Amino acid sequence: MERRNNGKKPKGHPYLAKFSSPMRISPEKIEEIRSANDIVDVISAHVRLKKRGKNYLGLCPFHQEKTPSFTVSAEKQLYHCFGCGKGGNVFTFVMELEKVSFAEAVRSLAEKVGIVLSFTEVDQEKQNETEVLYNACRFAGLQFYNNLTKTDEGRGALEYFHGRGFSDETIRTFGLGYSMNSWDSLLQRSKEEGIKQEDLLKAGLIRMRDDGGAYDYFRGRAMFPIFSASGRVIAFGARKMRDDDAVQGKYINSPETPIYNKSRVLFGLFHSKEQLRSQDTALMVEGYADLISLYQAGIQNVVASSGTALTEEQVQLISHYTKNLTLVYDADSAGSNAMLRGVDIALAQDLDVRIVELPEGEDPDSFVRKHGGKEFLKLVEQSISFIDFKARQFLRLGAFATPEGKSEAVRSIVQSIAKMKDELKRNFFLKDVASKYDLYESVLYRELERWTTKEKQSFRKEYAVNQTSGDSLPANAIIKRDEIPAAERDILKLLLEHHFEPVNLIFSHIALTDLSNESVKKLLEFVFSRIDERGTIDFMELVEELEDPQLKSIITDVAVSKYELSQQWSKRETEIEEADPWDIARGAIVSLKKQTLQKHIEENQRLLKEASRQGGDAMPFVQRHQELIKQLKETESPEFLKSSEGLEPLEG
Ligand code: CTP
Ligand code: MN
Repeated sequence: MERRNNGKKPKGHPYLAKFSSPMRISPEKIEEIRSANDIVDVISAHVRLKKRGKNYLGLCPFHQEKTPSFTVSAEKQLYHCFGCGKGGNVFTFVMELEKVSFAEAVRSLAEKVGIVLSFTEVDQEKQNETEVLYNACRFAGLQFYNNLTKTDEGRGALEYFHGRGFSDETIRTFGLGYSMNSWDSLLQRSKEEGIKQEDLLKAGLIRMRDDGGAYDYFRGRAMFPIFSASGRVIAFGARKMRDDDAVQGKYINSPETPIYNKSRVLFGLFHSKEQLRSQDTALMVEGYADLISLYQAGIQNVVASSGTALTEEQVQLISHYTKNLTLVYDADSAGSNAMLRGVDIALAQDLDVRIVELPEGEDPDSFVRKHGGKEFLKLVEQSISFIDFKARQFLRLGAFATPEGKSEAVRSIVQSIAKMKDELKRNFFLKDVASKYDLYESVLYRELERWTTKEKQSFRKEYAVNQTSGDSLPANAIIKRDEIPAAERDILKLLLEHHFEPVNLIFSHIALTDLSNESVKKLLEFVFSRIDERGTIDFMELVEELEDPQLKSIITDVAVSKYELSQQWSKRETEIEEADPWDIARGAIVSLKKQTLQKHIEENQRLLKEASRQGGDAMPFVQRHQELIKQLKETESPEFLKSSEGLEPLEG
């Protein structure tokens, strides 16, 4: 697509997002980065896509859905979700998914394909808040790594890691490090690097004393960087190295920061995501060390919960890669119990949850070091469903021996089953539990009924809350497709494909005000002002710049949809791919004319009624009605189409 960007952007148009204000990366560079990052490749790293005709289809990463409506067009290099309405190009995808600015999305995609941005191109002052935090964390991670591998003081930590069986390669892979046993080591180095104290503070790397002085938060500890799914350092876990060390806890972790939201992160995901996809199972462990040891032993489809209960966001993250989750349960750990508390969330999102039990006294790290990866995989093969696991726990506790215990156990099990959205699956588990534990199916069903009704109600409540909260959630971004008449979609499609002349033809016959959809009108108004200004329109650029999600959604919808001809033309069964832009324009004229005439007819009928009610002269309205009906008939005759052919400009 041609870009006629003379470097000047219009100032402050109401539909333009803030980031369209000057940014130092040149449009040519942006174009280069965009064309080096195929949208299908980029999105495939996060969403399982299947080819459907010309497009690709998958489950939308921006809202919960069971049937795929997230569509990616390789040809247009755009995506659009027909469920929630979100759409855009490769940059907006990264922005939305990782909650970063446009500049940061460009930078990360450039990095991915090895395009080097010089320092002036990444204007530091224009970097927004999150970018400086990423930068601070990246710098700190590098410092810790260097401390570990290149300093005398770090040697102790290196020995600690080696002592845990981590190889140098593993240390490098996970970017492990060491924080100097000093109050200001990182502080000083960061200062030399020009990183602001304020940013270190925001990134959770330093703390302030009451007197206003600053000090390093992590001191004398073995450092485990925590990466985002796309591989940027966002936080740290820091372990003490001697168990007799009295200071603070075994681990201290970064606080929540604008780039680190604990409940949305899974430790190790960046390293394991390809394996989660290819093996179609995620193993979930608790600890940093568990994950790293398994990974080193060749079991790489692992994520770590970091000792907390599973959250909705984490489950959603996992389900982008696989619907099978296996928890590795270490019976005597409090963390494992926390992990179990989150399982219902996974069931509710239709994941299959299985449990692997480790022998007493072992965690995945100790087990795999003692017995090796092969033995560990044998345990994984013996995993049981979560429902079975729960039932067994109750059995073990002797709960089935007393009536009270039994009903409590049944209730708890059925409660978990009730979370499953798939009715067949629910019934299967129910029958299974009934037969295994010698319970009456009918009792279980009755109980199930109670809980499924409750589930539904709470779902409705949540939904209602989401609807009104107006947060970033897509619900309010939706524009229903059928709210936009086909003819109006056609006009957009023509513009999108740069058929400007046929669009001119349309607007020589009808007025912008004849259109019925307000958003389309707004969008067209804006597109025309752009064309006037620059002679053309670049929709790729537009989806980056449009601020209003409704307008953006309309564009990507139209772009990735197959051609849908306005009614007039579908009647004639024109082959859609071969549709001639001039034909489409004429079709649009006819249907918009009809639409306008119908509006006039309705209005006239209203006036007619009014007149006769007030005893006035109805005759003019009757005549007008007949005239309008005649015109309407004309638009329906093939002659009308032919006659509008004469209007085609010569150069067409
Ligand atoms: N954890 C934490 N803070 C603590 C203890 C635990 O954040 N004070 C988190 C860490 O993410 C840790 C996980 O919970 O990795 C599991 O805790 P635990 O089983 O106690 O530690 P391990 O991972 O087994 O650590 P190690 O093997 O190093 O003792
Ligand atoms: Mn451990």
